[in-house]
This record gives sequence, C-alpha cells and structure tokens, in this order.
Amino acid sequence: MATRLPSGYDNQREALATYFDSTARQAWIDLTSDTKVSGIRATVRAGRDDMRATLLSWLPVDLRRTKVLDAGCGTGALAVAAACRGADVTGIDVAAGLVEVARERAPSFLGHGRIHWRAGDMLDPDLGTFAHVVAMDSLIHYQPEDLVAALSELAQRTTRSILFTFAPRTRLLATMHQVGKVFPKSDRSPAIVPTAEGDLRQRLASLPGWTIGRTQRISSGFYTSQALELVRHG
Ligand SMILES: C[S@@+](CC[C@H](N)C(=O)[O-])C[C@H]1O[C@@H](n2cnc3c(N)ncnc32)[C@H](O)[C@@H]1O
Repeated sequence: MATRLPSGYDNQREALATYFDSTARQAWIDLTSDTKVSGIRATVRAGRDDMRATLLSWLPVDLRRTKVLDAGCGTGALAVAAACRGADVTGIDVAAGLVEVARERAPSFLGHGRIHWRAGDMLDPDLGTFAHVVAMDSLIHYQPEDLVAALSELAQRTTRSILFTFAPRTRLLATMHQVGKVFPKSDRSPAIVPTAEGDLRQRLASLPGWTIGRTQRISSGFYTSQALELVRHG
C-alpha cells in the first residue's frame, strides 16, 4: 500500500525541478562534464566522482538482467556506468532538461545494458519494480521525515538494495546551512538539509524487511555526503 507522503516532499520536489532546470542548469551541466571549473567546484567534482564509484562498487559487478533505478539521475553518469555493466536501467529526474542532457550524453552502444530515460518523480509507481535503487545526492534536500517517507515508498518496489546519500550533520555543514539563511530568499538555492546519522538510523530501523548495511562518508573540499545501504532481508 502506498505511504502518504508529507506535503513537504511535493513542495521541495517542485522547487528542485525549477532550480535544476533554470538557475543551476548550466553549472550542473559543467560540473558533470570535463569542462574546466573553479578550484572549489573541482573539489566537488572529485568528491562526487568518488561517491559515484563507491555506490557503483556496492552493486553486483555483473548487472545483466538486473533492473536498476537511478533515482534523480541528473545528467546520467551513474545510469550509464550501471548500463555498461549490463543493467536494465531507468534513469528518472524531475528536472526534464537534465534528462535531455543525459539522453544526449549516453553512448548509443551499451552492450547488454539499456537505459530508459524518464522525466518525473522518482516515486512514480508506474516505474515498476527494481532489484536496486540508487539515489545519489537526490534526497539531500528533503527533511528527514520526507527522506524516510520517500525511502519507505521506494522500499515497496525494491527487491534487493537501496543505496542513497544524505548530508551528514557536521559542525561545518550546520554553520554553512545557517550562513545560507542570511541571503535573501530569492538568491538561495534549495537548501541541503543536514541530517544526523543517529536520528536517520533510528527512523530507518522501523522499515520492515530492511537492514542497514554499509556506510561511507566522502569529504572533498566543499563536498560532503554520506552513502548508506539498505538491504532487504528475509
Ligand atoms: C544534486 S543532483 C544529483 C544528480 C545525480 N544523481 C548525480 O549525482 O549526478 C539531485 C537531482 O535529484 C533530482 N531530484 C530531486 N528530487 C527528485 C524527485 N523527487 N524525483 C526525481 N528527481 C529528483 C533533481 O532534479 C536533481 O537533478
């Protein structure tokens, strides 16, 4: 049965769609390419490369005949890497413009793998069932209750594992979060929500049929994000 999501989820999803398809569009396209970027952004790019590699290393090496959801795929790097290992990937993002970039960037030959690109909500039940779901940095803007509600929704359609990242509540991030609030509302990007790991683990403990597995925090200059694995048991 579908969980009723808190309304904060829908509002934030719409704010993110607007942000990633307008204000942040070009910066995001550059960040996820080989284009030269500033020193700060280069640290973010390096951290994100590291995070993508970590998440991919938590998936089976051979992904043939395996359905994978790249939830919040952005410009599609993770979807392409999974498809190159044979996966049948659905890459979905609420920012339709980024999905177009992903579609254009994806190689036409993917061996055994394939990718279905979709614009929309990662929680759309019409997407079907997946063995693995990966949400890299796509749930970091949601409040903990919305993040966990989204995960529990995804859990109903996932048979093996869900890999996601959250923004760990460190002292530095909490300060940056507060500083961000000083800017006028119109200048702000949708805030990243620092989430305390202990609180998150407690909330996830109530997900029936799922166990918390590996975790890995990655910090590189201005990038800090933590991967967490949920594994279906029984
Ligand atoms: C920080 S970007 C990360 C993109 C990609 N996962 C990567 O690591 O390159 C977050 C992405 O999540 C997408 N997103 C956020 N909430 C979403 C939702 N509910 N459904 C689909 N996409 C979502 C945003 O539009 C944005 O493209």
